[in-house]
Amino acid sequence: MLKYCLLFCLLLAGSNLVNGKRIAKLTAKRLEKISKSGSVFDSRVINGIDATVGLAPYQISLQSTFGEHMCGGAIVDEHYILTAAHCVYGYNPLYLKVVTGTILWQEPGAKYDVEEFWVHCNYNTPDYHNDIAIIRVTQPIVFNEYTKPVILPDVPLANASKVLLTGWGSTVLFGDTPDVLQQATLTYIDYPSCQEEMGGDDDNGVGHICTLTDEGVGACHGDSGGPLAIDGVLVGLVNWGMPCAIGYPDSFASVHFYRDWIRRTMAESSCKSCHCYASNYD
Ligand SMILES: *[C@@H]1O[C@H](CO)[C@@H](O)[C@H](O)[C@H]1NC(C)=O
Repeated sequence: MLKYCLLFCLLLAGSNLVNGKRIAKLTAKRLEKISKSGSVFDSRVINGIDATVGLAPYQISLQSTFGEHMCGGAIVDEHYILTAAHCVYGYNPLYLKVVTGTILWQEPGAKYDVEEFWVHCNYNTPDYHNDIAIIRVTQPIVFNEYTKPVILPDVPLANASKVLLTGWGSTVLFGDTPDVLQQATLTYIDYPSCQEEMGGDDDNGVGHICTLTDEGVGACHGDSGGPLAIDGVLVGLVNWGMPCAIGYPDSFASVHFYRDWIRRTMAESSCKSCHCYASNYD
């Protein structure tokens, strides 16, 4: 058990995951940008608010067999979950559980075993890009008032849209996982505006969408893989960010950008060899 935990903890450290949020490296360019942008983002605070029951019925907690919360994700239909690739890459599906229908990750509405997952073929090529994965559970997910699928977007997000981020992400850097699901309302900014804020960061591409934080609302609440949504439509999955509240937009996988990959992967899931990174565990 201890050995297992050590391995797990090392894996987390090795992939720059801090309580399920992937923290980008502080390059010289980013440090320079952050030091200049301070005033724009000074209003960011870490504390957010508890989500109300049923606010995000598509939210899942991806957990280990020991019941540790690892990442967030969103229910697409009764068999499939979307999350970030770095949440599942390299794991044995037997080790993963999907918890649905709750705002308390330790009190599952239901718990499902993972049959298989598929990671995008160009995951992390280049660094931090194409960080998206699909999980298939072994039993159909039972829908109810607290457990419902998202809708996939047909059109790209309108600039400056208000979007809802939910997750059990740490509310402070290196802090504990909060018991109650957290929510934050963020503002989507288009790619050119985001690149301007980020100083042309190579780790942010057209497959990403970015958000700025509203005054007085936390930016640290999204777990990796967790959903960014607008009226039940899933628009983003938490990909990476800088350590919280130091003045840098957060970066999400754009669900609209990857919608064809999502539909194709789900349709062809019975064909293992059609995909680059199924888990390949027997
Ligand atoms: C998008 O929204 C941001 C933030 O409100 C703004 O700064 C930017 O100019 C907008 N872009 C366009 C093309 O309107």
